[in-house]
Amino acid sequence: MIMNNAENQNRTIPPVHAKDVFADEGRALAEKLGSEFSAAKPRGLFLNIDENGLSLMLEDTAVSVDLPKLVRRISNSNPHGEMVVKAAKIKGKDSPTVIDATAGLGEDSFLLAAAGFSVTLCEYNPVICALLQNGIERAKCVPQLKAAAERMTVYAGDSIEYMASLTEKPDVVLLDPMFPERQKSALIKKKFQLIQQLESPCSDEEALLNAAVNLRPHKIVIKRPLKGAFLAGRKPDYSLNGKAIRYDCLVFA
Ligand SMILES: C[S@@+](CC[C@H](N)C(=O)[O-])C[C@H]1O[C@@H](n2cnc3c(N)ncnc32)[C@H](O)[C@@H]1O
Repeated sequence: MIMNNAENQNRTIPPVHAKDVFADEGRALAEKLGSEFSAAKPRGLFLNIDENGLSLMLEDTAVSVDLPKLVRRISNSNPHGEMVVKAAKIKGKDSPTVIDATAGLGEDSFLLAAAGFSVTLCEYNPVICALLQNGIERAKCVPQLKAAAERMTVYAGDSIEYMASLTEKPDVVLLDPMFPERQKSALIKKKFQLIQQLESPCSDEEALLNAAVNLRPHKIVIKRPLKGAFLAGRKPDYSLNGKAIRYDCLVFA
């Protein structure tokens, strides 16, 4: 049975806090998310809006979609040298289309967009999606990021349903569902532990992979921990190995 990811997540929707000139924006976001607005700083996990944009906060830890931190990677070095770009590129295609079916904080998508890909970012967690939309809008105001950010379109919802609804196939589908639980606790830093509070582990990798395969894109690129198992047990046509991660690629005729 194919399970609906969105319905099966135990979602945490934290309250929204914003001061002064940001209060109206904060109230609007709280209403959109179905959470509460708090003028006083809430205890525990909360969303904060200030002059730096939207962030998810817990005590002294903040998580936001911080695309400016990637500027050095796209300007000092060749964006085509990024592993995700090497894995996704298609010979003879200048601006391929990509569905990032598990967008998260949008870093892989941004690196692809900076290399000329047009990316649709699917994210079903409404809090992560709000962070993503906010980060992309802010990036559009940064001259070095504007062109890439304009090639990024967010789909707020389940990518399995989205992919099933498409009539035109993309060139590439990128999959990076949550890392296996055991690896997470050992490897992922504080901010990822904070994000973990929002989500339950991805429990339907088979449905995700099947939805991508049914689209018959030119390529499916799957990001895995270097020593992680193949997604849904499916052997790729080839893999690109980095120091800590691996990109498994399935190629279709
Ligand atoms: C490991 S993160 C992706 C990180 C991302 N590659 C990056 O560079 O920031 C996985 C994300 O996929 C989302 N996700 C998992 N299954 C999904 C689905 N079926 N539809 C939409 N989003 C999904 C999760 O909510 C999570 O935010």
